[in-house]
Amino acid sequence: MVETNRHGMNRPGQPSSMGLVIRQKEPKNLETHFGQVDWFLTPTELFYIRSHFPTPSLDVASYRLKIDGAVQNPLSFSYEELRQMPSETRVATLECAGNSRVFLVPQADGAQWELGAVGNAEWTGVPLANLLERAGLREDVREIVLEGADRGTPKEPPIPPNPISYARSLPRDKAMRREVLVAYQMNGHDLPQDHGYPVRAIVPGHYGMASVKWLTRIRAVREPFRGYWQTSDYGYWDDVEGVPIRRALGEMQVKSEIARPGVYETISPNASYTIAGAAWSGESEVTEIAVSTDGGKTWSPAEFIDPAQRHAWRRWKLDWLTPQKPGPYTLLARAKDANRCVQPDRHDPNYGSYVINHPLPIEVLVDDRGSCS
Ligand code: MTE
Repeated sequence: MVETNRHGMNRPGQPSSMGLVIRQKEPKNLETHFGQVDWFLTPTELFYIRSHFPTPSLDVASYRLKIDGAVQNPLSFSYEELRQMPSETRVATLECAGNSRVFLVPQADGAQWELGAVGNAEWTGVPLANLLERAGLREDVREIVLEGADRGTPKEPPIPPNPISYARSLPRDKAMRREVLVAYQMNGHDLPQDHGYPVRAIVPGHYGMASVKWLTRIRAVREPFRGYWQTSDYGYWDDVEGVPIRRALGEMQVKSEIARPGVYETISPNASYTIAGAAWSGESEVTEIAVSTDGGKTWSPAEFIDPAQRHAWRRWKLDWLTPQKPGPYTLLARAKDANRCVQPDRHDPNYGSYVINHPLPIEVLVDDRGSCS
């Protein structure tokens, strides 16, 4: 059964499931079969998992969320206390910053994510701003550091001498926006363990690395936080007056992906085929999608399936009359957002193996072999 939600879209019910694709077994790094994207909300069991260390097991009875650092009243909340506070429910798309890495040429190090390290879910929790207001941020606080309970030694140099916890910071302004949640539910149910049970951060509009899972500590700091996942990993090169500066990744960039057809799918000639996909942006809404079926020579506007909703993806489709001439064809999709940002023609090397948001080529074969007459 598939229910319909207030968007008039399918809600996670029991769709046929192909499970997840393993990119790494331990720690768990599993991606969604993007060709399956038939829903506005990704069913929880099909939502990608990206973890740097083994999944920690936290006991809700003894769970505490500490808030300390440059605050007037350091606080600590139990799981029950968090659950009793006024909550909000929001839809947000999470995309791993390394999603689509397999499309980089030459090949880049790291998990070879295809199209499915992205998902869209409904998250419920307490706005982080409410907790920070109760703790009373000092005037000169610049960033809020979110720390998870998972620990280990990263494999990529520079390797820290001792095990470290997964931690990321948010600029104060973003942390105070109501959309940032200390969440305990995903798609109407308690978070699954691999998605951060009992409590995680959800930072809509930012790449997935900002949404710290197994959240146990929130620290207000006066200086920019320079932790491992802020500098060594999940960083990029900016240019300030000709001088390269290392900065932390944050806001997601506009992107569109083709879900169907899949790479090297065989398609009948002179037939109607519905090209379908999804598109998202960071702090803006996607307003246009253009699709090319000839490797970028010509483009046609696609039609949105979902309404514009900040921080949530929009599925789209385009009916294509396939060519009569058999042969290989390259499909591309390009999105534009309300800030008039358009996907770039090619990957920006300043982002290293992250932010892969150029139109991704999907090569298909138009061929009538195997089709029924
Ligand atoms: N939080 C902790 N504590 N540890 C992690 O390894 N991975 C981050 C983020 N939060 C991570 C984390 C990354 S890189 C991503 S993309 C998202 O979680 C993935 O969230 P998901 O596994 O629920 O899809």
